[in-house]
Amino acid sequence: LFWSAYALVYDVIWDSPLTRTVADSVADAIDDSMTGGCPTQRTVVDLGCGTGLVSRSLTERGLGVVGVDASEAMLRRAQLTGRLTRTVLADAALTTLDPGQIHAAVAVNLLHVHADPAAVLAEAVRLVVPGAAIVLVWPTDDVTPTTLNRLELQLGRPLLQVASADAARLTVGLLGQIVGARRHRHQALRGAVREAANAGTVRVCSEQVLEGCQHLLTLRATSTG
Ligand SMILES: C[S@@+](CC[C@H](N)C(=O)[O-])C[C@H]1O[C@@H](n2cnc3c(N)ncnc32)[C@H](O)[C@@H]1O
Repeated sequence: LFWSAYALVYDVIWDSPLTRTVADSVADAIDDSMTGGCPTQRTVVDLGCGTGLVSRSLTERGLGVVGVDASEAMLRRAQLTGRLTRTVLADAALTTLDPGQIHAAVAVNLLHVHADPAAVLAEAVRLVVPGAAIVLVWPTDDVTPTTLNRLELQLGRPLLQVASADAARLTVGLLGQIVGARRHRHQALRGAVREAANAGTVRVCSEQVLEGCQHLLTLRATSTG
């Protein structure tokens, strides 16, 4: 119910210059990881794809994108906007997709809300070919609506859109508090990545903070988990 309601206003809030900056950085990380070959032969899985705002930056670069999400409403919106190639209604930790067929995986702003972030990472490793990139993004612990509004204005989003996004985000935030929506903090998520690295299923290639509000980690799958 929470994600269905969120789907109604998701693009009002997040189809913005800030999301575009993050999505393009994710696409850059994927591009850098894929040397040679024709991009149309390459498929990326977008775990927790939502309405496809990150998938859009990947499809624009000629990549095939399989979007996985547990919310039908989010996937419907993603399909309507044509931002991805194929959608799969499933838990991101149990996608039912065949193992070792995908050329890269992304999970953007999913891990902090998922019940089992380590299981999502293990599923990403299972899905990709060995050596493929896995790009993870989650919010910094200290990000606030005020920070987001300031950033969006700096990045050129019109004031009216920033105000509408702020009101919608407040409403979704209240709903999230009522239903007890979860939010893992940075240390917990970084710990899950460290455990996977210690187990030898991934290697951490790079780590950065985008616009002061989003952690972006680029990993390599070192085995099929
Ligand atoms: C904050 S949104 C991020 C959407 C998109 N990745 C983006 O960055 O715009 C989180 C998404 O994760 C999805 N989600 C939540 N729990 C999930 C689960 N267990 N399995 C798959 N998707 C899930 C929600 O439906 C929602 O679309």
